[in-house]
Amino acid sequence: MVAKIINGFKISKKIQKKIKNEIDKRKKKGLSIPGLAVILVGNNNSSKIYVKNKKIACNKVGFFSKIFKFSKKISEKKIINLIKKLNKNKLIHGILIQLPLPKKINTLKILKKISYKKDVDGFHPFNIGLLCQRQPNLRSCTPFGILQLLKKKKIKMKGLNALIIGASNIVGRPMMLELLLAGCTTTVAHRFTKNLYQYVKNADLIIIAIGKPNFLNGKFIKKGAIIIDVGINRLKNGKIVGDVDFNSNYKKASYITPVPGGVGPMTVTSLLQNTLYACKKYYDKKIL
Ligand code: GUN
Repeated sequence: MVAKIINGFKISKKIQKKIKNEIDKRKKKGLSIPGLAVILVGNNNSSKIYVKNKKIACNKVGFFSKIFKFSKKISEKKIINLIKKLNKNKLIHGILIQLPLPKKINTLKILKKISYKKDVDGFHPFNIGLLCQRQPNLRSCTPFGILQLLKKKKIKMKGLNALIIGASNIVGRPMMLELLLAGCTTTVAHRFTKNLYQYVKNADLIIIAIGKPNFLNGKFIKKGAIIIDVGINRLKNGKIVGDVDFNSNYKKASYITPVPGGVGPMTVTSLLQNTLYACKKYYDKKIL
């Protein structure tokens, strides 16, 4: 058995084409164009690349976007003042703060200042709370993207034993809520988990986001498991690999996402979907 590869790049392209068509129609009708503000603090190379990709995607579908770049020395107060202005700006429907922020900045304090109506990352406690209560509104991009990939492949989620490896605020925790909503029996493993492989061997679906190159070896997984790789790790030779050892998992899984070209493009696409959603729901005031 070899796995079917979930081509996130192709699925993403299709969704983005639909978004572009919708934006073209909005322009003809004289409706507002979704606008995204991205705040980038510091010099993290990966963050710079992610932000650039977000800008390119916005341009492709016809959104307005603006990047605000700051040195790592910027104060919390200045960031908060910018957020307050962006919350009121009628051209901006989504605000994203690229994470991680420099250590001296209190990330949660900053994220809470973004209006929940413009929280296109879905990290605001209000939006996380809604997801927790089965009323998804603006949903965190990577988990939402993964759900869409699984849906596209018509994978039946109800009752699956799902294992998330990594309990971060960005991926693991919102992913847990999404999978619970989808009807999976959901386990979250983290740095204090004992005997990880006892969970791995029983999992029908594994989602891994720990930033450790080639960590998950296929010899431990259940035959036919679905393997979703969120990791993006650059090796010393420049090669980009995931958290999953692709070859050993490919031989045993039923579905697998590649790196690059799996989850990554869908994260950006979910961001575009969220920005359009925020624009329609809170600016057009169309009930969705
Ligand atoms: N850093 C890594 N992933 C993400 C993400 O989805 N959103 C933000 N804001 N920062 C990130």
